[in-house]
Amino acid sequence: PTVTFSSDNSRVTAELPTGESVEILLYGATVISWKDSKGDEKLWVSSAAKLDGTKAVRGGIPLVFPVFGPPPASGHPTSSLPQHGFARTSVWEFLGKSTSESNPTSGDASGSANAADLSVKLDFGLSAASLTAEVRELWPYKFNLIYSVTLNRENLTTSLVVTNDDDKPFESQVLLHTYLRVNDISSVSISGLASSTYIDKVANASVGTQTADTLSIASETDRVYTTPNGASDVVTVSEGGKTRYTVARDNLLNVVVWNPWTEKAAGMGDFEPKEGYKNMLCIEPGSVGTWQTLEPGDAFEGAQTITIPL
Ligand code: BG6
Repeated sequence: PTVTFSSDNSRVTAELPTGESVEILLYGATVISWKDSKGDEKLWVSSAAKLDGTKAVRGGIPLVFPVFGPPPASGHPTSSLPQHGFARTSVWEFLGKSTSESNPTSGDASGSANAADLSVKLDFGLSAASLTAEVRELWPYKFNLIYSVTLNRENLTTSLVVTNDDDKPFESQVLLHTYLRVNDISSVSISGLASSTYIDKVANASVGTQTADTLSIASETDRVYTTPNGASDVVTVSEGGKTRYTVARDNLLNVVVWNPWTEKAAGMGDFEPKEGYKNMLCIEPGSVGTWQTLEPGDAFEGAQTITIPL
């Protein structure tokens, strides 16, 4: 058994011998599809999303770097950048694939792997040299990003490494803007955020602390959570009482929970169908509460692993 793989100048796809698959656009290194062995899609992508490189993709997993949200009004090196930075709107380079076996001793006598143990990792890169001249001027630092997307039978890991290749420090934020697909937002419950503080962007950036163990979504929701030291690094999304996804974070202390609900969805030209807010929920692991300062030569790595029950 082997991993089926294809790539052209706009996208990369991989499928495990057990049927799970992933598809990534070079534009933004945006994961636009992740299917389980039955072919069920796990990510929500708007039917009006632009996939031609003219606008950040509305759905999937857009990457936020080097600034989250609208940049500071002035006086910060990111101030001239568009909302959520340039990583999601730049064309990345496909660096290569590697397959591995999680249980190398389980194959048959001929040394061939067990189909169920195979995984594939796809690596993408973006550096200052590959930005358009226009974008390079807006944020004039030498940097290197490596984004790795690893597909296993029961999970998808996306991991971002930011390296400062400049001779001066820079400040940045990163976030994995994951649009999870759900059947019905009204039966979704989110846990793993209790005791976290949050900024509620819907309520004039008011500050709160998550007291209830679970959070449900019944109106526009846009909260930037900061998980306290020692808190769980897993957010669980259940539907109808059953675990649908667990989202584990590595070195990412923030989680944005976003659902645009009716009015915001209506106001976004690329959000279709308009009722689609019922079928999506953004759980966005990131490092956005403060600025991450990287000294020359230093690197920052953050990752998420989204697991589905088998
Ligand atoms: C979320 C933000 O991460 O992204 C929201 O918290 C924002 O405030 C949303 O509306 C979508 O952003 P964009 O730029 O993709 O429309």
